[in-house]
Amino acid sequence: MTRPRKIIIDTDPGQDDAVAILLALASPELEVLGITAVAGNVPLTLTQKNARIVCELAGRPDLRVFAGCDRPIARPLVTAEHVHGKTGLDGPVMADPVMPLQPGHAVDFLIETLRAEAAHTVTLCPLGPLTNIATALTRAPDIAGRIQQIVLMGGAYFEVGNITPAAEFNIYVDPEAAATVFGAGVPLVVMPLDVTHKALTNRARVEAFRALGTEPGRMVAEWTDFFERFDMAKYGSEGAPLHDPCVIAYLLRPDLFRGRHINVEIETQSDLTRGMTVADWWGVTTRPANALFMGDIEAGGFFDLLTERIARL
Ligand code: RIB
Ligand code: CA
Repeated sequence: MTRPRKIIIDTDPGQDDAVAILLALASPELEVLGITAVAGNVPLTLTQKNARIVCELAGRPDLRVFAGCDRPIARPLVTAEHVHGKTGLDGPVMADPVMPLQPGHAVDFLIETLRAEAAHTVTLCPLGPLTNIATALTRAPDIAGRIQQIVLMGGAYFEVGNITPAAEFNIYVDPEAAATVFGAGVPLVVMPLDVTHKALTNRARVEAFRALGTEPGRMVAEWTDFFERFDMAKYGSEGAPLHDPCVIAYLLRPDLFRGRHINVEIETQSDLTRGMTVADWWGVTTRPANALFMGDIEAGGFFDLLTERIARL
């Protein structure tokens, strides 16, 4: 087997972030160098705590978890307790973590790690607002040329917004950060709502997690039971979109996804459409392509992969 792919997960857990972290930690193809928490679904004090809870659930108290930015670059923080609950991991009752939070700042960890590792050997996996990533790129522009790839969950085009009519939550919370990341010239793979809304749970899929008979399996089922009520009420869907696990699944099985290499720009000026990902899907501009923007997923294969991997924990 080839050497595991080195990744850093930047995250705002969030039940779907938690499932993504479990998938990564269950997959020997990946080496998680560290986890950087950012304010998003819930405040940073909770996202850094939740990230450690998930690491312990995966049997990885050795992992380094860093706290990053506690608010967007240029705007007040917007959170999503209405979706994820007050703790961000509502559903099951979860004990506080024992493993320590690392003393350093997440942005310093990102910069130091990218400078220390060989160029083009570390992939960044942002699952929340892009504040940490953009702050690192702004503070240390040299790292842009060292990042292997950024594979992120965020944005929407045909599916339009989930926090406003125009914008998806991760991009909406920190559009200035997103503009920095999308303009950095780093190879970018984007998992927008267009594809994550096709990665929907249903009763059979949730019961398959519960039937694993393991603590991780039970947690994934109970997180999903809680998390899905919002999307089912809003969209009338049969289940919840597992947004963030699409990022990790892409690293493991890119063949499950279909998209186009197109230009994507971020709206930052308008109050009405702030955070919109303006995706030139039909190539009507001469703006250079800067992102592989996903539009489709083989959902059955995705859930088979997810269930098989969670079973390994
Ligand atoms: O819009 C969905 C995204 O926002 C997901 O990453 C979810 O965890 C929240 O961060
Ligand atoms: Ca997230």
